[in-house]
Amino acid sequence: MSEGKPRVSRRIGSVAESATLAIDAKAKALKASGVDIIGFGAGEPDFPTPASIVEAAAKACADVKNHRYTPTAGLPELRAAIVTKTARDSQVEITTNQTLVTNGGKHAIYNAFATLLDPGDEVLIPEPYWTTYPEAVKLAGGTPIAVPTTLESEFKVSPATIEKYVTPRTKLFLFVSPSNPTGSVYSPEETKEIAQFCADKDLWILADEIYEHLTYDGIKAESIANHDPRGLDKIVIVNGVAKTYAMTGWRVGWMIGAPDIVAAAINLQSQSTSNVANISQRAAIEALIGDQGPVSIMREAFDRRRKLITSLLSEVPGINCPLPKGAFYVYPDVSGLLGRDFGGVRPSSTSELASVILDQAKVAVVPGEAFGTPGYFRLSYALSDNDLEIGISRIAKLVSESAQ
Ligand SMILES: Cc1ncc(COP(=O)(O)O)c(C=O)c1O
Repeated sequence: MSEGKPRVSRRIGSVAESATLAIDAKAKALKASGVDIIGFGAGEPDFPTPASIVEAAAKACADVKNHRYTPTAGLPELRAAIVTKTARDSQVEITTNQTLVTNGGKHAIYNAFATLLDPGDEVLIPEPYWTTYPEAVKLAGGTPIAVPTTLESEFKVSPATIEKYVTPRTKLFLFVSPSNPTGSVYSPEETKEIAQFCADKDLWILADEIYEHLTYDGIKAESIANHDPRGLDKIVIVNGVAKTYAMTGWRVGWMIGAPDIVAAAINLQSQSTSNVANISQRAAIEALIGDQGPVSIMREAFDRRRKLITSLLSEVPGINCPLPKGAFYVYPDVSGLLGRDFGGVRPSSTSELASVILDQAKVAVVPGEAFGTPGYFRLSYALSDNDLEIGISRIAKLVSESAQ
């Protein structure tokens, strides 16, 4: 074959598959083939979408006006609901022209990086990081730069650490609180320090607030937009209905930013995906400004499971599981299990260990390699209490039967 142009572009060819979705797909395929798998892989609430939201969507289906395109930026009513919700939940005042409705939070992240980055621009990403961030940065031509954290610092970064990674090419700092995969939540003081640091260094901030409502022990995740002396001039907030309202399949997210940035992102979206499905948009309006009761009920369930999974994992020798403060993930250090003999297999990496656990215990977890930090596992506790107990007891049994 001639050494011609690659069939897949270099840009797309360099994108890594989403490890979390891949593991979830493997677990779901095994389940479909009759294997009794317990999946801790997916970042997806196990609850159905609350009934009032589903009803709003069903009603919208029957209304002809929803069978048509809407403006690219979203239904005016949904953009207004985002303005109301942002003032209510974050005490951040915006106008509708600062909002863009996207196909999920992931699409908002993609749009934001595509709008803000030029080739060579560096983006600082605290590590461990959610797998999409570095790939979305690369797709936009930017360069992801990992800022390391430690379990001891609750996987949080401070201005002193960030500073070591700032270069003349640094454009943006990514702030995510609560975090996927660690569940860490920055305190208001820490948030303020980072906002001030970014303002001093003239860095843009991308704030991913998708887990804002999932915090525990009375802690609140504050919007960094409240602390940046520049207001929203150099902040883009991304958010969505998926995690808060158990609406992962509906695909509604949004970005918020300065009017010029949002206008540019709307242009981009007008040439790619256009508007988000109207039925989903109508459902999202009900989610955002309708009864918020279901949010607390789901949060209470997650809180119970958070404590349960942390205590069960902490009983397993070789696993060190801190109690997270937000989201629905635990991120234990499992390096103490490496090198042990599991039925004739001695995993030397957490990737291999995750395969052993899937093969031998029929439990799916995501290895830390997917998030830039080998040595850890991410387990989502957005599954039923019963499955959670069965899954962890299978891991505990496997470990108790392993040998040094
Ligand atoms: C940190 C974070 N941001 C954004 C998203 C995007 O969610 P969605 O595209 O389903 O709205 C996710 C989903 O896993 C996430 O974990």
